[in-house]
Amino acid sequence: MSANKPLPVVVLISGSGSNLQAIIDATQRGELPVELRAVISNQADAYGLKRAQQATIPTEILDHAQFSDRPSYDKALQTLIDQYEPGLVVLAGFMRILTPEFVEHYLGHMINIHPALLPKFPGLHTHQRAIEENENEHGATVHFVTSDVDSGPVIIQARVPVHPEDTPDVLAARVLEQEHKIYPEAIRLIAEGHITFVDNQAIYKGTALAASGINSAIN
Ligand code: GRF
Repeated sequence: MSANKPLPVVVLISGSGSNLQAIIDATQRGELPVELRAVISNQADAYGLKRAQQATIPTEILDHAQFSDRPSYDKALQTLIDQYEPGLVVLAGFMRILTPEFVEHYLGHMINIHPALLPKFPGLHTHQRAIEENENEHGATVHFVTSDVDSGPVIIQARVPVHPEDTPDVLAARVLEQEHKIYPEAIRLIAEGHITFVDNQAIYKGTALAASGINSAIN
């Protein structure tokens, strides 16, 4: 994680990969000191695989349907990931629940982006739920992955307004635009060594970040 040595990164996806694209773009612009070693998908038709191929990043498909249970899939996934010796595993729309053993193996070295202001709205259909619950703000969260789903110390959040006329799709698009900014930013902070994971906390400049992450330290 020194300033001179790029951080090796493996990205896991299941779908479109627009966050992956934002990470690729930021890396190609020279903004992230990372080496994107591989993109792995559990879905053979994930569009993100094409994005990776266009950027000449090695791709792998590991289809969960070929495995009888979650532990055996996660074990195979771990073996595959570790062949690339990543310092950071980035979950970018990887639509799988992970076993505690898998999470433990990468503890402090695996991050996720979730389309809500955690701890609000873990799980699915976050945009619809934010509208139904009359939230006036919504957003996205990048966090270290710990064994609770959509939990773990927050690194950074982006907030957007919710307008009365919003549909879930309109709100999702507003949030996604922010995801594409905060995910590369979180990766940069980790790759440059500014954010670390210690004792189940995200540490920034020697201090544990508050529940809303880096914004609370900067503002
Ligand atoms: C994003 O909304 C992300 O927050 C969630 O899954 C979606 C992935 O989108 N975890 P994409 O594949 O990066 O376009």
